[in-house]
Amino acid sequence: MNFELGLRCRDCGKHFKSEPLAGCDECFAPLEVYYDLQAIGKAITPELLERRPSSMWRYREFLPLNSTPLDNPRLTSLAGVGGTPLVPVARLARKLGVRELYVKNDAVNFPTLSFKDRVVAVALSKAIEFGFKVVACSSTGNLANSVAAQAAALGLEAYIFTPSDLEAAKIAGTLVYGAKLIKISGNYDQVNRLCSEIAQRYPWGIVNVNLRPYYAEGSKTVGYEIAQQLDWKLPSSLVCPMAGGSLIGKIARAFDDLRQLGWAAGDTRIFGAQATGCSPISSAVKEGRKDIEPQRPSTIARSLAIGNPADGFYAARTIRATGGWAEDVSDNEILEGMRLLAETEGIFTETAGGVTVACARKLLQQGRIDPQQPIVLVITGNGLKTLDAIIASQAEAPIIAPRMREFEAELVREGATPEVEPEPALAK
Ligand SMILES: Cc1ncc(COP(=O)(O)O)c(C=O)c1O
Ligand SMILES: [Zn+2]
Repeated sequence: MNFELGLRCRDCGKHFKSEPLAGCDECFAPLEVYYDLQAIGKAITPELLERRPSSMWRYREFLPLNSTPLDNPRLTSLAGVGGTPLVPVARLARKLGVRELYVKNDAVNFPTLSFKDRVVAVALSKAIEFGFKVVACSSTGNLANSVAAQAAALGLEAYIFTPSDLEAAKIAGTLVYGAKLIKISGNYDQVNRLCSEIAQRYPWGIVNVNLRPYYAEGSKTVGYEIAQQLDWKLPSSLVCPMAGGSLIGKIARAFDDLRQLGWAAGDTRIFGAQATGCSPISSAVKEGRKDIEPQRPSTIARSLAIGNPADGFYAARTIRATGGWAEDVSDNEILEGMRLLAETEGIFTETAGGVTVACARKLLQQGRIDPQQPIVLVITGNGLKTLDAIIASQAEAPIIAPRMREFEAELVREGATPEVEPEPALAK
């Protein structure tokens, strides 16, 4: 059952029926799906949700779809999206000096190892409902991977537009699915502008243009999952990376839905994280500006390199309204953040995750996050996709001949003193 009531302009409130639309025709602001929340509250209960298999489709009543992989065989390939772990991270907590810390680990999302699999699962399901045969997107990399993989599995044709300087893994992880990848000699904002023009000329479902209101809804499932995984007690603080600024607002919206339904309790301060080399949203928050000033991105966090974020204004508003804050970190701090999470918790995140960890550390040092209350870090992508960044900062591993003498010489060189088995006693 679809509880969607249609689309609504985020600025002027104008209503639109459910159709592929990029923005409001009156004021050009983004559109948002709205629902009959009371009817959802009557149709399902938290207990019912807990009995469903763990995936994003557990929360299907909160999504704008007539059918899902749970009841439509055409969509079966999407059944495993979402349902990622919320990992209690005690060793990292100790390092950061906080009492209760969790990582929402979308680095292991299915099928392409980023939270984008959630948004694409909704966008492509909706594309099929609208009858599109071709889907497309502009992307900083993760969206490209996800659209390519899911389109292949659903039998849709896919066109992917990206900046030409993408990481090798993100290019390979798009081409392998047979998608048509077109690299643009320009930054993401220029790629996105071209896609908006393409949307007007071609009858395509463009995930982050005319399907954007639907696509964005998939991110709410990150928030519903976190709430349920914490037994419906919302965390005191949550740190989330920002590019276009959509994810952060949708997590806040999910928490609001659950509070309105009376299912979850607690106020969450929402904190936004960016790279200093592309920090239009964090700068606006820190400088107390309402308007987002576009920037020209220059950072190793390429997945977050959106200089003119479509939802930046709303992200900043969410951060302020919840009593949160925003920060940004240098490329070196990003690499330190990636290493810190890997070394303490065995979680290998991409540069965007390094941004989240490093910003959380900075916000704690500034006293903006309460270290005594539960904190969630949203980790959105996998480190295997940004190997270039981490390899460049790692020392070469030693190569030795296969001999004990050489191995022990290496131990001495490293100053290591591992335990050694005692020499066996000589037979008398
Ligand atoms: C790994 C990763 N994290 C976070 C984001 C930010 O999401 P949003 O554009 O919704 O702010 C992106 C967007 O591309 C991403 O790829
Ligand atoms: Zn409007």
